[in-house]
Amino acid sequence: MKEQLEKIYSDASAEIEKSASINDLDEIKAKYLSRKGEFNEIKKNLKNLSDTDKRIVGSLANEITQKLEASIKSKYDEFYKKELDAKLLKERIDITLPGKFDRMGKAHPLTTTTNEIVSIFQSLGFSVVSNDKSPEVETEYYNFDALNVPKDHPARDMQDTFYVKHASNVILRSQTSGAQIHAMEGKNPPIRIIAPGRVYRNENVNARKNNFFHQIEGLYVDKDITFGDLKGVLNEFIRIYFGASRPTRFRNSFFPFTEPSAEVDVQCIMCEGKGCRTCSGTGWLEILGSGMVDPNVLRNVGIDPDIYSGFAFGMGVERLAMLKYAIDDIRLFFNNDERFLNQF
Ligand code: DAH
Repeated sequence: MKEQLEKIYSDASAEIEKSASINDLDEIKAKYLSRKGEFNEIKKNLKNLSDTDKRIVGSLANEITQKLEASIKSKYDEFYKKELDAKLLKERIDITLPGKFDRMGKAHPLTTTTNEIVSIFQSLGFSVVSNDKSPEVETEYYNFDALNVPKDHPARDMQDTFYVKHASNVILRSQTSGAQIHAMEGKNPPIRIIAPGRVYRNENVNARKNNFFHQIEGLYVDKDITFGDLKGVLNEFIRIYFGASRPTRFRNSFFPFTEPSAEVDVQCIMCEGKGCRTCSGTGWLEILGSGMVDPNVLRNVGIDPDIYSGFAFGMGVERLAMLKYAIDDIRLFFNNDERFLNQF
């Protein structure tokens, strides 16, 4: 029996040595070491031996089984490693190949311009009120009444303002000035805010006008606020936005919600003041409306105009972007033509 065992051992070892795959090893395992394998057949005959022989042959059988199991295991490991190496080689990443680039989105020029203007006013101490504090679908009260715009003012005419059907006194806001009312209502000065947002007007669309556009509203109310403060803040804004050398002028004007009112012009970007088509030959371009908050407006929100005063201003974002980047058609902002957008 001993010889029989040793023969099985050398046969099995030779087969293991020759094996070429995990599959081969599985077969060898089944042939020699499974319940129906050759070893078990021998073990079954152990009972016919004397006790001493039983012990000798039995321990030899165990020893051989363990050795075979060990060499099968080490072959297994070898095959697994080979398989893994082959797989890793096949799946190796060639880091010298050019990458695939995802095209990155970027901010729309109006967003960039808004952010730039907002951050200038933030640096001057103004805080931003978000759009949800002053909705685009607005009541006539906030857009007109509280701002001291008389009922018969031409701005309320159907030609300028979009009215919401089947709702009385509800409109798409035609200016961000209503944000002033929202900002002051129920609050005590000092109030120093800017409010960016979209506004709507029933215009015939052309190179200069779109039926919606964007404004940034500003408001500063406190004790002893003067026209000098207004000029100081707006001049500083213009200096930062357009650069120190851009000539500026304040021009007398009228708005129902400010008294006195002023419009601010900068020297024409296109012709440097000589007079051209863009500035209709005047050499100047209007960039914003402003003024001292009308006492009636303060009274409408419960602020005492004998104690407090303030200034307000409103500017068009498209206009400011067009001037800075020499864009000659407002519709370009809304066509989503990548050839235009990619330039910013
Ligand atoms: N709301 C005005 C417009 O849309 C602009 C404006 C003028 C805003 C004077 C102001 C202001 O706050 O004081 O034309």
